[in-house]
Amino acid sequence: MAAARKRIVVACVCAALLMTLAVSSPSCIPVKGVYFPEWSNVDPSSVETKLYTHIFYAFVTPHSDTFQFQIDQTRAPLLLNFTSTIHAANPPLITLFSVGGAAEGTAFFSRLASNSSSRAAFIHSSIQVARKFGFDGVDLDWEFPETPTDMENLGYLLDEWRAEVQKEAAATGRPPLLLTAAVYYSADTFLDGMARAYPAASVSRNLDLINVMNYDYHGAWNKSVTGAQAALFDPSSNLSTSYGLGSWVRAGVPRSKLVMGLPLYGRTWKLRDRGVHGVGMAAVDVGPGWNGTGVLTYAEVVEFNKANKAKVVYDVATVSVYSVAGDYWVGYDDKKTVAAKIGYAKALGLRGYFFWAINGDYKSTISKTASKLWRL
Ligand SMILES: *[C@@H]1O[C@H](CO)[C@@H](O)[C@H](O)[C@H]1NC(C)=O
Ligand SMILES: *[C@@H]1O[C@H](CO)[C@@H](O)[C@H](O)[C@H]1NC(C)=O
Ligand SMILES: *[C@@H]1O[C@H](CO)[C@@H](O)[C@H](O)[C@H]1NC(C)=O
Ligand SMILES: *[C@@H]1O[C@H](CO)[C@@H](O)[C@H](O)[C@H]1NC(C)=O
Ligand SMILES: *[C@@H]1O[C@H](CO)[C@@H](O)[C@H](O)[C@H]1NC(C)=O
Repeated sequence: MAAARKRIVVACVCAALLMTLAVSSPSCIPVKGVYFPEWSNVDPSSVETKLYTHIFYAFVTPHSDTFQFQIDQTRAPLLLNFTSTIHAANPPLITLFSVGGAAEGTAFFSRLASNSSSRAAFIHSSIQVARKFGFDGVDLDWEFPETPTDMENLGYLLDEWRAEVQKEAAATGRPPLLLTAAVYYSADTFLDGMARAYPAASVSRNLDLINVMNYDYHGAWNKSVTGAQAALFDPSSNLSTSYGLGSWVRAGVPRSKLVMGLPLYGRTWKLRDRGVHGVGMAAVDVGPGWNGTGVLTYAEVVEFNKANKAKVVYDVATVSVYSVAGDYWVGYDDKKTVAAKIGYAKALGLRGYFFWAINGDYKSTISKTASKLWRL
């Protein structure tokens, strides 16, 4: 028994070494990802690299006409500084750059994916950028394919991207770049009501990791009711992490590639009735938060709680936490809900978790809790 365990540990350590050297992704290594938004002005040297395995530089997006990246004189040193700092850290992390994001929207990607020459231009340019700036891989963040045709084209894009990545690796003798994507919380149920499903077979065969965005279920777009934006369970709807992850598993995507998303931010409302403050209670507006979006980072929630002596309530039904102070309500994840979600993801046999985003944590407390809970 002990000997068998030791062998497994040794195999994993070897795999870890291999991963650092060759950036392959043996499936026994848990993924502890984190997005690094360029605009958050986090200094790469301040990243506590022992808490993560993969770090995604967000975002870099190609030119809207040529579909090729044009890295200018201000950007280039930022990218080089990021990869060299993170790779020189102890331990080094796997670095990827993420393409797109919520602000980019869907139209650009829809055009890109629809035509084989634009796909080829994008693919070649992405490989060049990764190699030139020292990234280990590329992450596609198309939010979101809107039609069955978009989904079909996404499947072609991933097939062609994988083929080129393998070809480049063979030609240069270097380990192949990693290909990952950030995807909607569900594989086939979309809240806008439009029917479509991700091309699960292409996703499974071409991507190394699939970052499932298990958040943004409720927010400022519905000011009339409070909500758990990253509910693990929802007794009254399919808008939950348990449903979403289940849909990805049912779609046939290997669990060893699925990575659960965790938000390092919360969403706020202004309550209609002071004192009536559960999840799903009446509200009249968004609460405090960046530029009217009702978004507070976890670090800001911690400050909000202190400054307002907020009441903090754990909601068992949704596995979420909220704080209430006067009229203001904020729903978010804390150490306790993150621990419960990690237990859920491990039990489901998933590969790991990722956070959006690194600047939201409060003194790395949530990242530390999560990392301790998911060891080899
Ligand atoms: C990255 O930039 C910082 C701040 O400008 C600088 O101190 C550091 O030396 C740079 N690191 C590398 C590896 O270029
Ligand atoms: C495909 O994209 C190329 C290059 O962007 C463009 O020249 C061509 O007209 C496009 N073809 C179609 C059918 O849209
Ligand atoms: C807001 O959410 C509530 C509860 O889920 C729902 O009944 C209502 O229709 C939503 N309103 C809008 C405008 O989406
Ligand atoms: C949840 O999704 C399932 C299919 O996966 C569907 O049968 C069921 O009606 C959905 N429930 C709700 C409340 O939308
Ligand atoms: C804040 O929101 C306003 C209105 O939506 C927008 O015009 C402005 O660009 C936003 N500011 C920032 C810094 O994003």
